[in-house]
Amino acid sequence: MTIKLRSKDDFVKMRIAGQMAAEVLELIEQYVVPGVSTERLDQICHDHIVNIQKAIPACLGYNGFPKSICTSVNQVICHGIPSDKKILKSGDVINIDVTVIKDGWYGDTSKMFCVGEVAPHAERLLKVSQECLYKAIEIVGPGVRLGDIGHIIQVHAEKNYYSVVRDYCGHGIGTEFHEEPQIVHYGKPNTGIELKEGMTFTIEPMVNAGKFTTKLKSDGWTVETKDGRLSSQWEHTMAVTANGCEIFTGRQEESF
Ligand code: MF3
Ligand code: CO
Ligand code: CO
Repeated sequence: MTIKLRSKDDFVKMRIAGQMAAEVLELIEQYVVPGVSTERLDQICHDHIVNIQKAIPACLGYNGFPKSICTSVNQVICHGIPSDKKILKSGDVINIDVTVIKDGWYGDTSKMFCVGEVAPHAERLLKVSQECLYKAIEIVGPGVRLGDIGHIIQVHAEKNYYSVVRDYCGHGIGTEFHEEPQIVHYGKPNTGIELKEGMTFTIEPMVNAGKFTTKLKSDGWTVETKDGRLSSQWEHTMAVTANGCEIFTGRQEESF
């Protein structure tokens, strides 16, 4: 078990990468409308990352992933592959997950978007799952244990009659995409390793309207809910600081 502790100079680099990933989510919002293909969303993000940010889309080619972002629509939990055959329609919800590499450092973030008018039950799932991420972020700091983070997420999701995905988790991040430790989004208080100043990782809870069971599609990437019900995910990259945490991937609509 080797968890890297990053310095203040490292934070500067991760802040830059994180802000670039966040900027891509801000930029793409205007294009997430009925009739657009997820392939088109991928192209726009790819071009911005490569040509404007002069950065690298981390997903492209990662373990053979064929696109620059993940686009996960409705019952897709994560790792949806952008496709010209997937056209968004009013009522859909979509997670867009962006990871950029800038100057060797990674920034990884995702958010949910509503396409046109969305049903109240879907809006509610999106809101509660975002609250799960925010409640976890609120407690991050030195001495807090990983089980505390998982627990606060699980309690809030289950209190709302939702379930937390077990098969995929958050991760350490820095000069590699997925580093130690694994950040699971369920658990018991006062268990697991203690956070220390300088740790950098993601929290990215996947919350399902129905059961937490997952199903991997035959493309080898797309993860869906087994029961076919909606799933929602929000992700930030952060660092543990002396008295809490710094969110590297915050957007203007947020206040960290
Ligand atoms: N960005 C995802 C995460 O949060 C990982 C995507 S890997 C890919 O960890 F290969 F599917 F792009
Ligand atoms: Co991640
Ligand atoms: Co991600």
